[in-house]
Amino acid sequence: MSLRVTVVGVGMVGERIISILRERSFPMEWPPRVCATRERTEMLDGEKFHVEKTGENCFRNADIVFFAGKEGAKGASIQWGAKAQEAGAICVDNGSDFRLDAKIPLVIPEVNPEAIRPQTRFIASPNCSTIQLVMVLHPLHQAARIHRVVVSTYQSVSGWGVKAHEELLSQMPQALKSLDNIGFDPLVLARPIAFNYLPHIDKFTENGYTKEEMKMVLETQKIMGNESIKISATTVRVPVLVGHGESINIETKSKLSPAEARQILSNSPGIAVLDELNKDNPRHDPLERTYPDAFNIRKPQYRDMVLVGRIREDPTIENGLNLWCVADNLRKGAALNVVQIGELLIKRGIVRP
Ligand SMILES: NC(=O)c1ccc[n+]([C@@H]2O[C@H](COP(=O)([O-])OP(=O)(O)OC[C@H]3O[C@@H](n4cnc5c(N)ncnc54)[C@H](OP(=O)(O)O)[C@@H]3O)[C@@H](O)[C@H]2O)c1
Repeated sequence: MSLRVTVVGVGMVGERIISILRERSFPMEWPPRVCATRERTEMLDGEKFHVEKTGENCFRNADIVFFAGKEGAKGASIQWGAKAQEAGAICVDNGSDFRLDAKIPLVIPEVNPEAIRPQTRFIASPNCSTIQLVMVLHPLHQAARIHRVVVSTYQSVSGWGVKAHEELLSQMPQALKSLDNIGFDPLVLARPIAFNYLPHIDKFTENGYTKEEMKMVLETQKIMGNESIKISATTVRVPVLVGHGESINIETKSKLSPAEARQILSNSPGIAVLDELNKDNPRHDPLERTYPDAFNIRKPQYRDMVLVGRIREDPTIENGLNLWCVADNLRKGAALNVVQIGELLIKRGIVRP
């Protein structure tokens, strides 16, 4: 017997969930049931799908429901999460609505699989920028105890969803002609994003930080089970289609050299270190090193990895490291993480194919 899977939401993340379920031969009946705000036929990952309007029908007989709809009162998991559980399904949610709920595990399988208990029926997947940060912090914390992190992000437009992806694509031809009067939808991104950068992701909060910045702080502390780790975040939207970059400054209790950090991260699951001498570079720079960028994650060997480079000592503090990390926000930052959670549920016998 194989599992019955429902995917709610067929935008940037929902479509990736469908392709990753197929790529990883998830033990399920094919096709999954797919649901969104309205019924239609749609090509998803190269296959024609009947998309249902989300309703109780979508959860009947489902073993696992992957939520990739929008958040808030009219969002998918708030509207339908309880109904899916009543119907007997285990829910795995990409959205932020339940991430900080003390009763709901917030899980990155490589980091805190133990947060899922045999009786767990609803699991939250962290924010995309949090996932790649914690993937890097966790092994370094185990080795040298982190007590402070300063992170600045360079986040692609697809992190907002399909509408922001379309905004950048539609603004580029206009921007190439003139940077004046670029048409944009202020309800998607507050200003034009073509040839620009916006330190404004999600809403502002009373303390002056944005919700995206506070997600990085609070989610990281919850996943790492350590509220004493101090985290300061600045999150910035950049005109990249897919792939988030993060500049991370880390202060540890005990000393960790860049070479030790490279070694630890190279041996950590889901991480690839791209940080070695780049000999024979056309600039004849004998000290130039390799590093990850948004194009690396297009390569099959890297698309599911968190890539780390530019690992160096921060000489301005006692035990400090600087590094740069890149990951596909749609895959490890969202769809891959939830499918891995599904695999974990099977491995633990919490759902049985
Ligand atoms: N994009 C990322 O990098 C990323 C990373 C981590 C987490 N997430 C989270 O993943 C979720 C999906 O993000 P996305 O980027 O895929 O968004 P998206 O491209 O805007 O797609 C949203 C999808 O959800 C459907 N939807 C919205 N409200 C719904 C509701 N109440 N009931 C059923 N379906 C509903 C939409 O239906 P229609 O197609 O009918 O409009 C659409 O298919 C969000 O919660 C987001 O915060 C995203």
